Amino acid sequence: MALSIWMQVLDGGAATAASALRAALGTAGVSVRDAAHESAPKGFGVVLCGASDTALPQTVQALALNAAVLAIDCAGEPLRADTMWALLEAGAIDLLPWSSAELCAQQVAARLQRWDALQKLMASSTVRNWLVGDSGAWRALVQSVVEVAAFTQSPVLITGETGTGKDLIAQLIHRLSGAPGELTVLDCTTLSPELAGSELFGHERGAFTGALNARDGAFAMADGGTLFLDEVGELPLPLQAQLLRVIQEQKYKRVGSNGWQPSRFRLVCATNRDLEADIATGAFRADLFYRIAGWRCRPPPLRERQGDILPLVEHFLRQLDPQGQGRPLEPAVREYLLSREYKGNVRDLRQTVSRIWYRHTGPGPITIGDVPPDERLHRAPAWPDAPFRDAIRHAVDRGMSLARIGQAASDTAIRLVLEQEGDNNQRAAQRLGVTDRALQIRRKAAREGEVESRQ
Ligand SMILES: Nc1ncnc2c1ncn2[C@@H]1O[C@H](COP(=O)(O)OP(=O)(O)OP(=O)(O)O)[C@@H](O)[C@H]1O
Ligand SMILES: [Mg+2]
Repeated sequence: MALSIWMQVLDGGAATAASALRAALGTAGVSVRDAAHESAPKGFGVVLCGASDTALPQTVQALALNAAVLAIDCAGEPLRADTMWALLEAGAIDLLPWSSAELCAQQVAARLQRWDALQKLMASSTVRNWLVGDSGAWRALVQSVVEVAAFTQSPVLITGETGTGKDLIAQLIHRLSGAPGELTVLDCTTLSPELAGSELFGHERGAFTGALNARDGAFAMADGGTLFLDEVGELPLPLQAQLLRVIQEQKYKRVGSNGWQPSRFRLVCATNRDLEADIATGAFRADLFYRIAGWRCRPPPLRERQGDILPLVEHFLRQLDPQGQGRPLEPAVREYLLSREYKGNVRDLRQTVSRIWYRHTGPGPITIGDVPPDERLHRAPAWPDAPFRDAIRHAVDRGMSLARIGQAASDTAIRLVLEQEGDNNQRAAQRLGVTDRALQIRRKAAREGEVESRQ
């Protein structure tokens, strides 16, 4: 299928470059739509900018809310380094210096192809039904996991609190890596120094008392696939040294054998320990750390992505009642689930949902009486809660005025509810406690404000 992008020329002086780039992209098979008058174009787009545009980061930030934005600097002089970083922080996927139309077109086409492949994977049921969550923090994490899994062979280290999905991420990396072999999981907490040699390397018949038959170890089983070392932070120091050698040399010896066996596998490790702190105390080898941490990811705790709670609840209810049509929640139950603390993160949420589901009976929504009595103790303090205060503190520390904080809070609330309600103005207005008409006026004003700030 032909690829297409949108284009906005933000700097008057870039018009010539824009038409040359459009022609070169056309030759490369990429069609270009002029989005000069669109306030929120979707999909992949390029903005051609120059040093004269002082509001550039704000413009890119507004565009990047709905689209993947690639900036091309067409000014004769390169942008200042702090403006370049500000553009990335504003959400630009990259910033290219203008060279020639042909080279820029190739650069754009390559990034577009990668982005397109990534979007398809992100939208696939393999990813969406596996790692559930819609919050920005979670989607960003999943996108980087998918990218590293599908387009590289890098070893991956997953760190994060218990129950945040490290296991699921490791399984997804294996599924996306397209390796022909199996996923071999080794739980490092179960490795005793006496048995570890055989578990990892396998052994020959008669290698030690009781070794009646030869046996393959984890390195042999992982050949051609993925080796997942779960709880890698628990690995005793002598085993860390042995593992380092196998990773470096990609070969190992069975216990009782002198012959080297090759094994090529992708390494994925997970831990909820702070390995850098363990390195400082000598509990974890620094050289092993840098081998296993070719790329690192940290699934955030649930308290940092509360927008994921309701999608996860729906997911778990569908799992518990696969034949059902989805079960609505009474507002009080919804409020309870949203405000409860989840020390065990998503696992804790899953168990909470199960307990509520098992008490539920009959038709109709899940009601407050379905929440088990011992659960009710977990009710969180009333809103505004700590995450809200943290977000406001951050805005105040960044020097935002009261008017901007208020405006940003209500704009964000409106955008989020509209997203959740599939852009249905009436339902969104109802949830926000305003009239239909009032919400329409607010949306129109927000759109006009965006356009004005770019002019
Ligand atoms: N994003 C998610 N989508 C769907 N289910 C999830 C998600 N994250 C976690 N879960 C579920 O939560 C439970 C815990 O996840 P998982 O075992 O991957 O966590 P973990 O980080 O490996 O925890 P631990 O450190 O305790 O081993 C599992 O039942 C998993 O299916
Ligand atoms: Mg785990």
